[in-house]
Amino acid sequence: MLTRGVWRDHTAFFSGSLIPFLAVVHPPVSRLGEQLTPFVMDRLYNSVVQPPSMSKGAKMTLPKIASSQITPKHIYQTRRRFLKTAGLAASAAFLAACGVPTQTQSPRPTAPSTAAPDIARSDELGNQANSYQEITHYNNFYEFTTDKEKVAELAASFATEPWKIEVGGLVENPMTFDLDALRRLGREERVTRLRCVEAWSMVIPWEGFPLNRLLKQVAPLSSAKFVRFQSIYDPDRLPGQKSPWYEWPYIEGLRLDEAMHDLSFMATGLYGEALPPQNGAPVRLVVPWKYGFKNLKSIVRIDLVTEAPTSLWMAAAPKEYGFYANVNPEVSHPRWSQRSERRIGELKRRQTLPFNGYGEQVASLYQGMDLQKNF
Ligand code: MTE
Repeated sequence: MLTRGVWRDHTAFFSGSLIPFLAVVHPPVSRLGEQLTPFVMDRLYNSVVQPPSMSKGAKMTLPKIASSQITPKHIYQTRRRFLKTAGLAASAAFLAACGVPTQTQSPRPTAPSTAAPDIARSDELGNQANSYQEITHYNNFYEFTTDKEKVAELAASFATEPWKIEVGGLVENPMTFDLDALRRLGREERVTRLRCVEAWSMVIPWEGFPLNRLLKQVAPLSSAKFVRFQSIYDPDRLPGQKSPWYEWPYIEGLRLDEAMHDLSFMATGLYGEALPPQNGAPVRLVVPWKYGFKNLKSIVRIDLVTEAPTSLWMAAAPKEYGFYANVNPEVSHPRWSQRSERRIGELKRRQTLPFNGYGEQVASLYQGMDLQKNF
């Protein structure tokens, strides 16, 4: 793909000329040559090619143009239906413009064929979904490698069956969900945008169930204020967990009301296939209004807690990655702007939307909060 070709050129350029610079901005990288990966290169690209233009003092505003003015009618109508669905119906299915009915399928332990059908699907804004190949071969999954284009290969034989998720902490009914129990929570399709903090994005047709469906079964106590998620920890099978630069396992967290929002989703499938290992099989979180790193993969434990959990990225770089991590074009990453993004498969950069375009549904969760401080 042309964009990848162009990208590799940048990568080669940066790795040849900016190593001293890396030593300043990312000390672990300077000590570990093999960490010169696309993840880091995306950051470098961002810091050099589009230097931060906004400070953390800027205010977040929702777009002023009504979507009815800029969107073709049929897409606009689909969007209205989407907003209604996401706002009102806790268990409603996502309405994709070209949605295809989904079937219940068993999660599989190995990667599906790369020949999965790319039946045209699009999100409620009319953005066409990325291809199956793009979604499954450009991944961040540091437990395997920091090289996005190698994750699929390294994860191909990662067995995800049997599997269980333990859910506990401040709940009335602690429960263990095996794969059958997860299947019983349902399988609906949602085509949502994923915006990585590195300023690239994709549109992905997930399948799964709303997180609140699982949480309701365990009945959170009134003292529960946050949800802490934990990915699998198994250094023998996950070579990246031998890296000393991160505090494993991968931890993430949500405020309880964020977790109960109907847009917070547990994905078990992709493009009508079981979720492949590189995308977080057998089950991963999808919180589409937040940066991609909140969407932790291969979840094994969920706890209801009183305090905001410290995530892997908050522990690694507290000044760069906050707890909320809401997509916000007005608040730069300390080393690059978040105003625009590179949609995988496109040449021209796109403007980044507040809350990744889900502001109408989620902005009220943050009323009265200073989103510059709570980044
Ligand atoms: N979850 C785990 N366990 N480990 C990771 O390295 N990377 C995160 C997130 N979830 C990550 C993770 C980041 S930075 C992003 S952008 C998304 O996964 C990428 O999801 P994708 O590979 O399915 O596109």
